[in-house]
Formats: sequence, structure tokens, C-alpha cells
Amino acid sequence: MNAEPGKDVRFWRLALLLVGLLALGLAVWVVVDGTGGDWQGHQEDFFARIGVKQARVEVRQIRACTGEVDRCVSCHLGGERDELRDPKVPHPHRAHPKDMLHHQHTAQRIACSACHGGSGRALRQTAAHAMPGGTELDPLMKQPHIQASCARCHLPGAVKPADRLLAGARLYAELGCAVCHPLGAGGRGGFDYGPDLRTIGRKSLAYLKTSLSDPLANFADSTMPAFGRTFEENPEAEIDLLIFLESLVLTRPADCSQRDRSDYLLDQACASCHAGSGGKASGRFEHRCPFILARKDELRCANCHPQEIPKATRLGGGFCPRIQQERNRCSLCHEGR
Ligand code: HEC
Ligand code: HEC
Ligand code: HEC
Ligand code: HEC
Ligand code: HEC
Ligand code: HEC
Ligand code: HEC
Repeated sequence: MNAEPGKDVRFWRLALLLVGLLALGLAVWVVVDGTGGDWQGHQEDFFARIGVKQARVEVRQIRACTGEVDRCVSCHLGGERDELRDPKVPHPHRAHPKDMLHHQHTAQRIACSACHGGSGRALRQTAAHAMPGGTELDPLMKQPHIQASCARCHLPGAVKPADRLLAGARLYAELGCAVCHPLGAGGRGGFDYGPDLRTIGRKSLAYLKTSLSDPLANFADSTMPAFGRTFEENPEAEIDLLIFLESLVLTRPADCSQRDRSDYLLDQACASCHAGSGGKASGRFEHRCPFILARKDELRCANCHPQEIPKATRLGGGFCPRIQQERNRCSLCHEGR
């Protein structure tokens, strides 16, 4: 016989309450942990560091011109504050190296991930710094590989702090990669049906390196020659080429690009300016194309046309067949041409 039936009921009520609270606590923990992480702590540290007492700790995000949502600034709040430039200031609070953010790129629209890759939405450090879907540090986080992303919006060679990218583009031409992997037409257009390297998706550096040194490792019947020896003497050149390869798979966001600034000139025959005797051009125009500049001794019209530039005879008019021969190389940088 139970003398005190109420005691039992109270016990079970209490137990139920405890279990309920536990479940609620677990749910809250999962939600907080899923969206948050250590970003709140970084924000508190940051505001303490700059002496701001009542700042809102909240997820900060940018909708970038690349179409991506970028939350890196939930932890990285240093921006371009001069007082945080000291290398002793730890990341993520340290100011950005000069000139890359607001000065030349409006941080609001050209967001961090546009240059550094990573996973823009992630709020946990390891996920944010990794390639989407992976856990390995995205190589674009560090120099010199950051330079690959400059090609999203600038032609290789168009901006100064991207010399490794330009060197990589040159190597791609010099080593004959474009013979099998042409960048003009899409798809498997090349000799030996080499695939279009713009469509292979983002790969780890290790994978790309293996593709060069031991092509059979990734494709058992690949006819690609091995390039391991090529770089034995000069490992820096291999990095240049890898940077160019990394750049090929990145998207080219139309809304924030500077890539096509001078494209209209590409459709113009060289002879429309180089019309004088010996192909002399007049006017204040100066070439910026690093390819034309690097090869000006070979491409100088007077070399082959010492007197008058011949009259256009072919269809399309005025395009020098000798310069057209170089078209495969032009498309390394001037895409789709
Ligand atoms: C949860 C906070 C957090 C988020 C979100 C975050 N970072 Fe970081 N980041 C850090 C911390 C902390 C460090 C310093 C790490 C260290 O010193 O090991 C750092 C370091 C870096 C570095 C220097 C890397 C190096 O090894 O030199 C870069 C570049 C960087 N972050 C870019 C980004 C970008 C781009 C994003 C967004 C895609 C991002 N971070 C998102 C916290 C964050
Ligand atoms: C236009 C491209 C660009 C954008 C946008 C950009 N960065 Fe950078 N970032 C660079 C380059 C280039 C470097 C290397 C500068 C150098 O070596 O002097 C760099 C360096 C860094 C470093 C220092 C890494 C180190 O080795 O100490 C951090 C941290 C960093 N960026 C974080 C960010 C964050 C956070 C954002 C967004 C607020 C951002 N970057 C936006 C290009 C960019
Ligand atoms: C998402 C697109 C984007 C990326 C990625 C990008 N840039 Fe830019 N960059 C621009 C735009 C757009 C401008 C012009 C800004 C303006 O006029 O306000 C610019 C301007 C510049 C300028 C000023 C000089 C000029 O010709 O106007 C330099 C230098 C520069 N970028 C260097 C770089 C480097 C180096 C990288 C790679 C680390 C890089 N950019 C990555 C879009 C980008
Ligand atoms: C003789 C033709 C040929 C030459 C020259 C050549 N490749 Fe290849 N490459 C191929 C073939 C064929 C494959 C095999 C891919 C397949 O079967 O899908 C391949 C594969 C690759 C892959 C891996 C693609 C993937 O989907 O994973 C990379 C990266 C690559 N080549 C880069 C280069 C670079 C960089 C150069 C110049 C240094 C070069 N190739 C020169 C024919 C060539
Ligand atoms: C908008 C006008 C214009 C167009 C189009 C143009 N150029 Fe030029 N180019 C010039 C001017 C101006 C100079 C400097 C004067 C000169 O050397 O004749 C020059 C110089 C050169 C030089 C250096 C000559 C030297 O003696 O140092 C080369 C090489 C050259 N251009 C090649 C080309 C090629 C190849 C094309 C076509 C892809 C081309 N140019 C299209 C205006 C133009
Ligand atoms: C390496 C030698 C070489 C160089 C450099 C060169 N050309 Fe030519 N060009 C040729 C040859 C070969 C032909 C074809 C011969 C012919 O049709 O008379 C040709 C033909 C032409 C034609 C006639 C095309 C047609 O429709 O028939 C034009 C126009 C022309 N070149 C312009 C130029 C200009 C402008 C430059 C300098 C930017 C230049 N070429 C530099 C070799 C060269
Ligand atoms: C290594 C990369 C690269 C290659 C390869 C390349 N270009 Fe360029 N080109 C550029 C850059 C960078 C610019 C300047 C873009 C700007 O400032 O907006 C440019 C600009 C031009 C212009 C505009 C006028 C000028 O000189 O600034 C013409 C015309 C041109 N290129 C023609 C060619 C032709 C023809 C070829 C192939 C024979 C070629 N390019 C190969 C990078 C390249």
C-alpha cells in the first residue's frame, strides 16, 4: 500500500522537468554552436582593444559583388585601422596590409573571400579558412597563392602585386600546356584531347602538383608528359604555374570585374593604329599588354613590313596573319578569344 501517493507524482514531475530542461539546454547549445563559435569572443576582444564599451556583438556579413555572402568580418574587424597595423597585433584583429582593401577595393562589395577563398558563410575558423566542403586550409589564404584570385577580376599582368600570376601565365605558354589545354574554345579541344583546365573544379595543391609531376597518378592512361624534371632546378617556377592553374577554375564575377576594360581594342586590327610607314603608330596611346610589351622586338611591324603596311585582303580585314598565329597565346589572358 502506498501511504503517500503525492510523493511519487512529485518525483516524476521533477524528473520530467529536469529531462525537459536538459533537452532544451541541448537544443540551445546545438543552435548556438551551429551558428556561432568563437566569433563572439573575437568581437568582445576587438571592442575591448579599441576601447569601445557598448558595441553590439552580432553576426556581421557582406553581400559581395561576387554574389557570395561573406561573414569573415564577424571575426576580422581590423580593416584598415592604422593603430592596428603593428605586426604584434594578433589576427584576426590586425589591420589589413595596406592598399588592398578600401584603398583599391571597396571592402563592402569586394569581400574578403573574393581574394582569399575560404567559405564565406562559415562562422567557425577552420571551416571559414577551408575550401568549401573541405577542412584543409585554402591555399588562397596565403601569399603567393592569393595572386590566383586577382585573375577573377583583372587580366594577368594588369595589376602590380600579381607578378607570380603573370609569370605562371607565361610558363603555361612556354611549356606548351596550351597545345593540349587551349583556353580559347571550351571543352576537350586540345591535342590528345586534353581537358579544359577551367572546368576541373577547385583542387588541392597536392593534386595539381601530382598532375604535373606524375600525370598517370590521376589518370591511368593519360598521354600528358611528366613535368617533374622541368621544375627540379626551379621550384619557384612550379609555384608560379600552380598559381596560374588555380586561377583558371575561379569564377569571373561580371559585376565587379575590371577584366574587359580594354577588350574593345582587341577587336580592332593592329593596323588601324599601326598604319604609317613601317607600321608606325601615332597618338598618345601606350600599350599596357604585358605580352605585347615583352615581345615587342618580335612583333614590331617594321621587322616584316619595312615600308607600307599591306592592304587588307582577307576577310575580316587588316588582321596580320602573323599576329593571328599567336591567338592561342592571347587567350591565356584574354578569355574566349
Ligand atoms: C571564427 C572567427 C574567424 C572567421 C569567421 C574567419 N577568420 Fe580568418 N582568422 C581568424 C583567426 C583567429 C586567425 C589567426 C589564426 C592564427 O594565427 O593561427 C585568422 C587568420 C586569417 C588569415 C591569416 C592566415 C595565415 O595563416 O596567415 C587570413 C588570410 C584570414 N584569416 C582570412 C579569413 C577569411 C577570408 C575569412 C572568411 C572566409 C575568415 N578569415 C574568417 C578567425 C576567423
Ligand atoms: C583585393 C584582394 C583582397 C581582399 C578583398 C582582401 N585581401 Fe586580405 N590580403 C590580400 C593580399 C594580396 C594579402 C597579402 C599582402 C602582403 O603580402 O603584403 C592579404 C593579406 C591578408 C592577411 C595577412 C596574412 C598574413 O600573412 O599575415 C589577412 C589576415 C587578410 N588578408 C585578411 C583579409 C580579410 C579579413 C579581408 C576582408 C575584410 C581581406 N583580407 C580582403 C588580398 C586581399
Ligand atoms: C572581385 C573582383 C576583384 C578581385 C578578386 C581583385 N580586384 Fe583589384 N580591382 C577590382 C576593381 C573593380 C577595381 C577598380 C576599383 C575602383 O576603381 O574603385 C580594382 C582595382 C585594383 C587596383 C588599382 C589599380 C587600377 O588599375 O585601378 C589594383 C592595384 C588592384 N585592383 C590589385 C588587385 C590584386 C593584386 C588582386 C589580387 C590579390 C585584386 N586586385 C583582386 C576588382 C577586383
Ligand atoms: C600532350 C598533351 C598534353 C600536354 C602538353 C599537357 N597536358 Fe595536361 N593533360 C593531358 C591529358 C590527356 C590529361 C588527362 C586528363 C583526362 O584524361 O581527363 C591531362 C591532365 C592534366 C591535368 C589534370 C586535369 C584533371 O581533370 O584533373 C592538369 C592539371 C594538367 N593536365 C595540366 C597541364 C599543364 C599545366 C601542362 C603544361 C605544363 C600540361 N598539362 C601539358 C594532356 C596534356
Ligand atoms: C589604339 C592604337 C593601337 C592599336 C590598336 C595597336 N597599337 Fe601598337 N602601338 C600604338 C602606339 C601609339 C605605339 C607607340 C608608337 C610606335 O611605336 O609606333 C605602339 C607600339 C607598339 C609596339 C612597339 C613598337 C616599337 O618599336 O617599340 C608594338 C610591338 C606594337 N605596338 C604592337 C601592336 C600589336 C601587335 C597590335 C595589335 C594586337 C597593336 N600594336 C595595336 C598604338 C596601337
Ligand atoms: C614576323 C613578321 C610580321 C610582323 C612582326 C608583322 N607582320 Fe603583318 N604580315 C606578315 C606576313 C608574312 C603577312 C602576309 C604577307 C602578305 O600578305 O603580304 C602579313 C600581312 C599583314 C597585313 C595584311 C593582312 C591581309 O588582310 O592580307 C596587315 C594589315 C599586316 N600584316 C599588319 C601588320 C601590323 C600592323 C603589324 C605590327 C603591329 C604587323 N603586321 C607585324 C608578317 C608580319
Ligand atoms: C599574360 C597575359 C596576356 C597575354 C598572353 C596577352 N595579353 Fe593582351 N593584355 C593583357 C593585359 C594585362 C592588358 C591590359 C589590360 C588593362 O589594362 O585593362 C592587355 C591589353 C591588350 C590590348 C589593349 C591595348 C594594350 O596594349 O593595352 C590589346 C590590343 C591586347 N592586349 C592584345 C593582345 C594580343 C593580340 C595578344 C596575343 C598575341 C595578347 N594581348 C596576349 C594581358 C595579356
